[in-house]
Amino acid sequence: MSIVKIKDKTFKTFIPESEIQQRVKAVAEKLNRDMDGKNPLFLAVLNGSFVFAADLMRYITIPSEISFVKLASYQGTASTGEVKEVFGVTEELHGRHVVIVEDIVDTGLTMKRMLETLGTREPASLHICSLLVKPDKLQVSLDIEYAAMEIPNDFIVGYGLDYDQQGRNLRDIYRIIE
Ligand code: IMP
Repeated sequence: MSIVKIKDKTFKTFIPESEIQQRVKAVAEKLNRDMDGKNPLFLAVLNGSFVFAADLMRYITIPSEISFVKLASYQGTASTGEVKEVFGVTEELHGRHVVIVEDIVDTGLTMKRMLETLGTREPASLHICSLLVKPDKLQVSLDIEYAAMEIPNDFIVGYGLDYDQQGRNLRDIYRIIE
């Protein structure tokens, strides 16, 4: 068990690199089976999913493509509050089998927004692939077909996930020590 300090917070090892790799491989194998012959387009959401996406893609053995999108927040009207916009979708999604690749689904609001935005481009199908899901935090109903791991509500860092932009380089996943 190792302890890391990032800014004002302390974290301890939660999911070791070897287990992450096993889980990522398992989810990739399911995608290889389900998406065979569909030439899926993986859309990885930056910044958090960059490590997961890189490992996932190297376990994918079927013809496929990957591209990267980014979410930016802006302040909507008083009624809509913070609104997240999807940037960087340069591919034609019409008729494509699209798999959104995320680092973590927490409340699910970000993913819901992604589905709404990408859905308007009329893909043939739209799927969710997330490294991590916090089921107890979900506020919206989502069909997360490809989840590598489910975790409790604790805040985590590492393997692409950050605390205040730090910690993305950690090879294991760490959870916060209260
Ligand atoms: P949601 O809209 O509440 O599902 O939030 C999703 C986003 O919040 C993720 O893409 C992450 O960027 C961030 N996030 C949620 N939980 C954590 C965590 O435990 N560690 C790091 N980032 C997190």
